[in-house]
Amino acid sequence: MAQSRRDFLGMVFGAFAGAGGLAALYAMKRTWDPLPSVMAAGFTTVDLSPMKEGELRTVTWRGKPIFILKKPPEENCNTIPDETKKRLVKVGDSEYLVMIGLCTHLGCIPSWEPDKKTFHCACHGGEYDACGVNTFGPPPRPMDIPPFKIEGTKLVLGEEGPEYKKMVGKA
Ligand code: FES
Repeated sequence: MAQSRRDFLGMVFGAFAGAGGLAALYAMKRTWDPLPSVMAAGFTTVDLSPMKEGELRTVTWRGKPIFILKKPPEENCNTIPDETKKRLVKVGDSEYLVMIGLCTHLGCIPSWEPDKKTFHCACHGGEYDACGVNTFGPPPRPMDIPPFKIEGTKLVLGEEGPEYKKMVGKA
């Protein structure tokens, strides 16, 4: 009789210990998983269809400004044609420039000057052409391209699609 009571108590304690272990594992997983707000912040979707030719839109992705410029006229890009074409993404019949709107010198936000078709960085006088390629001053390289993919007429920032991989030479 005492033996079966001990067996029963042993099973009850074992079940409690097992349940406690599972609860602890679940709590650890919840702690390690990124918060839903963090996961949502990883991607930004922008519908490109309402944009007009020559329009510049600035959206925020992971706290950074992203410049989207619809079909910059190639004659205003002082880069070699192939280099220019590589920085443009075709969506439907239109072409877009997508880049992180931070100066590659020290990270200021350049401003778009539509009359001159240039991006001007007021911090140290850096300049970029209409394709985001550095043309004057201290910026050491063109503005960076963020990872993106195209879904229909939508731009999804934060995911590496085939267009992005081709652009940065990963495809
Ligand atoms: S931060 Fe833009 S030129 Fe220095």
